[in-house]
Amino acid sequence: MTTISARIPQIDWSQGFDRHWNGGNLAVTHAFNALSLLFPQAERFFIEVAREVVRGLGSTLNPDLERAVKGFIAQESTHTQQHNQYNAILKTQGFENVVYDFVQRLQERSHRDFSPLTKLAIVCGYEHYTAILGNYILTNPQVLGSAEPDMALIWGWHSAEETEHKAVCFDLYRAAGGGWLRRNLAFLLVTLNFSLMFGRLYFSLLYRDDCLKPLRVVKTLRESLSFHFGASGIAWHLLWNGVRYLSPWFHPWNQANRSKLQSWLSANQFRLRKVGDDHER
Ligand SMILES: [Fe+2]
Ligand SMILES: [Fe+2]
Repeated sequence: MTTISARIPQIDWSQGFDRHWNGGNLAVTHAFNALSLLFPQAERFFIEVAREVVRGLGSTLNPDLERAVKGFIAQESTHTQQHNQYNAILKTQGFENVVYDFVQRLQERSHRDFSPLTKLAIVCGYEHYTAILGNYILTNPQVLGSAEPDMALIWGWHSAEETEHKAVCFDLYRAAGGGWLRRNLAFLLVTLNFSLMFGRLYFSLLYRDDCLKPLRVVKTLRESLSFHFGASGIAWHLLWNGVRYLSPWFHPWNQANRSKLQSWLSANQFRLRKVGDDHER
């Protein structure tokens, strides 16, 4: 039995970070920035939905799973706190979250039109994407190899914890009686929404940073193609692992990558502070 614990990365956000913090790579810096801008709103929604389903299950919920959900909530709360500080610096650099209102409306509509179980199926879809991204970063440390140390830390930490809690919402969904069809219909919706939101935000950041102007556009395009479609491009990981999710036998831990998260945690333990209780799972 392992535990799910919330940790705080020791980052002094008052120092800020460079506009092109990932070794001057415009495309990769802004891909990560776009994700950071999306996280706080999304993670608040995940927490609300998980709490709602737990309340609905009441005393029928397995205590181990209940502890795991508490660990999940603790981790997502600290992610939100850290990314809010990250995003405040982006704001001072002149960047804004152009999809904030769209996401707000989408979430309000989900609360109004969908059952708690369907909303949890949506959360499972997003959690699968964050697990893919987490595994990608833990497997390809060179992506952050030239990043400022604090930025490499926040993304490594977030990746490790997304990997650690990747099965919690999935197990909660199954415990609440969720099935294959709803999970996969929700995944299609999530794939569409995530692509739209990320794409819109990514191009707005590149545009705002003059990365699409004639003098820079070739560099931006080259970096972006290499990051997305290069030999270890993220698009291949998203595609292959997205297809895996469609299987009726899918479970997040079918991809046994716990050793990657443990090696990252051991190597970076001195820069993390544990908070709260441990939650067994
Ligand atoms: Fe997170
Ligand atoms: Fe997560």
